[in-house]
Amino acid sequence: MKTPRAIHWVLCAVAAATLMSTGAALAQKRDSMIQTIPAVRNIDPALVELGKKLFHDPRLSRSGFISCASCHNLSRGGSDNLKTSIGHNWSQGPINAPTVLNSSLNLAQFWDGRALTLKEQAGGPIANPGEMASTHEVAMDVLRSIPGYASEFRTVFRTDQMSIDQVTTALAAFQETLVTPNSRFDRWLDGEDNAITKDELAGYHLFRDSGCVACHNGPNAGGTSFQRLGVVQAFQSVNPQPIGRAGVTGRDADRFKHKVPTMRNVELTYPYFFDGSARTLTEAVDVMGRLQLGRVYTAQENAQIVAFLKTLTGQQPRLMLPILPPSSDKTPPPRPFN
Ligand code: HEC
Ligand code: HEC
Repeated sequence: MKTPRAIHWVLCAVAAATLMSTGAALAQKRDSMIQTIPAVRNIDPALVELGKKLFHDPRLSRSGFISCASCHNLSRGGSDNLKTSIGHNWSQGPINAPTVLNSSLNLAQFWDGRALTLKEQAGGPIANPGEMASTHEVAMDVLRSIPGYASEFRTVFRTDQMSIDQVTTALAAFQETLVTPNSRFDRWLDGEDNAITKDELAGYHLFRDSGCVACHNGPNAGGTSFQRLGVVQAFQSVNPQPIGRAGVTGRDADRFKHKVPTMRNVELTYPYFFDGSARTLTEAVDVMGRLQLGRVYTAQENAQIVAFLKTLTGQQPRLMLPILPPSSDKTPPPRPFN
């Protein structure tokens, strides 16, 4: 009789503990229009590694000097922190470089969403005269001439034929891994009360209740829709304002609409807006309040929203510096000055 009773008590204790812990976890998970970052799908690590090399390889550019990482610096939140980017021959780019961090979570790529996927996007910059200024043919000649790449492509793709399609596949796979989970705000969403301060929480409530989340929502706190900059009041740009989404859809109603940018890691990706005209978050929040919502925040409210936005800085990708395979005697030389 004694043993069964002891077992009964142990079982009761275990059941109660389980109930308590699951009950507590359920009660604490917070409902929000901003969700935590989903886990990355399983991707072949060899493909990701190849993509990482290509992302950092300036030989994909005509100058042999500009890589994807030049403008999407992973030591700086996946951006270049310039108003607009510097391309081949120091040419002045037309638009601010968005971060590549978490960009797989966006409904489309580029400010106007003209590429649907990361793979579709990745072919663009290599051949863009104002960016890397090469051609897909030259870039492939360069890669084919590098024995280290030839063998790595063969291992990953199981064929001797190297193609630009494989390059963009690898670049996209690598970028899919560039997510930044476990920000303090995510931990708060998961029920950790002390993960954010009172001021940061007040900032979140302002962001939610005054309507910022109507546009900046989803796991990326943005990237779910195209919206006009200047809903209530027109935006004055120093740059000629691009026609935005209308360039893709041809619809007049889409003029000046851009993809709503992510708020994740926004602390790291200054300056702000398509033209980089807002130097600080304080300025960007003020412009958003007035132009999008017709609301002027007090200095304290603005500071609280900024404090909230900074809780969205997540765990940055931890990368081993890729060591690139050396060029061979046959590799077409870089042409930095023409
Ligand atoms: C000279 C600077 C520069 C280089 C080099 C460059 N980019 Fe970009 N990138 C930009 C700019 C500027 C934009 C925004 C262009 C636009 O929206 O019209 C952009 C947009 C993107 C986006 C879209 C992000 C989003 O949320 O919309 C991705 C992804 C991206 N680049 C990846 C790459 C990859 C991969 C490479 C290398 C093959 C690369 N970039 C090379 C400047 C650069
Ligand atoms: C009607 C939709 C909408 C609302 C509401 C809105 N935003 Fe935005 N937000 C945008 C769009 C679109 C952009 C990009 C504008 C551009 O440069 O073309 C943007 C850009 C930003 C940026 C700059 C991000 C970057 O990387 O350049 C910040 C910061 C920002 N919003 C914060 C806020 C805050 C805070 C609020 C509430 C006060 C808010 N937004 C309300 C649509 C909206």
